[in-house]
Amino acid sequence: MTSIFSILFLLITSYLISIQGQVMSLEESNIMLPLEKPHSFTQLHFYFHDILDSENPSTLKIINPPSNSHAPFGATYIIDNPLTEKQDLNSNIIGRAQGTYALASQQGDFALKMDVNFVFIEGSYKGSTLTMLGRNVIVDEVREMPIVGGTGAFRFAKGYALAKTVWYDSSSGNAIEEFNVSIYHF
Ligand SMILES: *[C@@H]1O[C@H](CO)[C@@H](O)[C@H](O)[C@H]1NC(C)=O
Repeated sequence: MTSIFSILFLLITSYLISIQGQVMSLEESNIMLPLEKPHSFTQLHFYFHDILDSENPSTLKIINPPSNSHAPFGATYIIDNPLTEKQDLNSNIIGRAQGTYALASQQGDFALKMDVNFVFIEGSYKGSTLTMLGRNVIVDEVREMPIVGGTGAFRFAKGYALAKTVWYDSSSGNAIEEFNVSIYHF
């Protein structure tokens, strides 16, 4: 009798261990495999054009702050801005910045909340996207915003963007921002 129980005990224990082993290796493959691959590091440089005054503006104000707002807290814009290789709008277009930004501070510091998908149309990056979500204090000379993800060539992207206003026209509101984006991805 004792030996039958010990054999059963051994069988059940080894079965449980093997199940647990499978579960562990599944979890490990889900979590560990991507991290085992080497990361690519990519730096992108481009210019971003806010165009408010043309016949086809690329930036539209879609929400006006309510009258009880400390203007312009709440003002919200939607963008489909061209991204160019050089500062000149007529230089090569490498992609677009599609998303929204809103004045999200009541502290008088002009801090925007930006959520923008950069979609690229060139070479090996064609159709790949990067998503930027962050705080943009537009009066600061250089602003840093996190890159929180990407698709295509930029899967698993993580990094940051630095943006600087290189040209601004106060009558139209048109602006050109220089961007340096640094990311790790696969
Ligand atoms: C982007 O990088 C270039 C080259 O290093 C530098 O001259 C420029 O000031 C940078 N701009 C921003 C916004 O970081």
